[in-house]
Amino acid sequence: MEILKEFLSAFWLRPEVALIKTHEYLALQQFALDEPSADVGCGDGIFSFIAAGGRFGPGFDMYQNVAFTERFFQGVDVFDHFDPERFRMEITAYPTRQITYGIDHKATLLEKAKPLRLYQNTIVADANHGIPLPENSLRTVFCNIIYILENLDRLLAEMRRVLQDGGRIVLQLPEKRAEEVMIYHLHAKHGWEWARLIDRNKYATTYPAYHRHERSYWDEKIRVAGLKVVQEVDLRPDLVHVMWDIGLRPLFPAFMEMYRRLAPTDRGEVKRVWVDTLAEVLAQFCEPKWMYTDLGCKPTYRMVALEKA
Ligand SMILES: C[S@@+](CC[C@H](N)C(=O)[O-])C[C@H]1O[C@@H](n2cnc3c(N)ncnc32)[C@H](O)[C@@H]1O
Repeated sequence: MEILKEFLSAFWLRPEVALIKTHEYLALQQFALDEPSADVGCGDGIFSFIAAGGRFGPGFDMYQNVAFTERFFQGVDVFDHFDPERFRMEITAYPTRQITYGIDHKATLLEKAKPLRLYQNTIVADANHGIPLPENSLRTVFCNIIYILENLDRLLAEMRRVLQDGGRIVLQLPEKRAEEVMIYHLHAKHGWEWARLIDRNKYATTYPAYHRHERSYWDEKIRVAGLKVVQEVDLRPDLVHVMWDIGLRPLFPAFMEMYRRLAPTDRGEVKRVWVDTLAEVLAQFCEPKWMYTDLGCKPTYRMVALEKA
């Protein structure tokens, strides 16, 4: 599967991230994303770049500029660092569509996104304080991080405010199942240290206590904001979610050590074998239909399009 390989090449040291991003890509392909649009919480834009048809060469990955790995488990964002001299994009295809605005509260990530030629404009802004765009200005608002943001009532009202009539808000929303199957619960219930080490605060930051996660909670927020669901696609089978939750995260500092010590040619060789092997074993887990019907998996997210009610 070409798209899985594209994500594996960018995120090769975290294959579980490549896996969930492939699922997200497959779901997003089913939605119309008309311009002008905004990508809220766009980060470095790598996901949206690939989703918009952009492609990287094999020399590109996410780890070229990683810093502060020694503070990785204290929650420091090791990707929030950018040295343009040491960050090779190696773009082989630019996106086939552009996004009018990329919005994020981290200026470094938006700087990283600039060479992608994906966002026509980038705006440093905290989405918890609103969306700094005029009303009725967008055909599409895309946000795949809304469930980690704080003031949903205000944010949904803001998204509605900037939306033109007939425009759509495309969101990734968790199902109750997403937080239910997290390994964190084993630590909470039994006090098992290994479960805490695997989790390392992932549960608390992904499913913050200020939200509930059942569908009725989100549907009520959507209704109160004067919006309605007009399209819905199941996302991330629970088995994939558990693979992501356990993942290779505890090994990340060790992988980075290996990464730094390998000369670029050796690293390229290792990466090629690594990506080919993972692509072969993970491809079957990128077949959502098979996972839901044959394996009996349940979705842990849904991707929805909202319109003004
Ligand atoms: C997990 S990353 C996702 C990035 C990108 N959407 C993607 O799919 O790769 C979460 C992003 O949300 C951004 N973010 C978190 N809280 C935010 C806030 N209050 N306002 C704006 N951006 C925020 C972070 O800086 C980070 O770039």
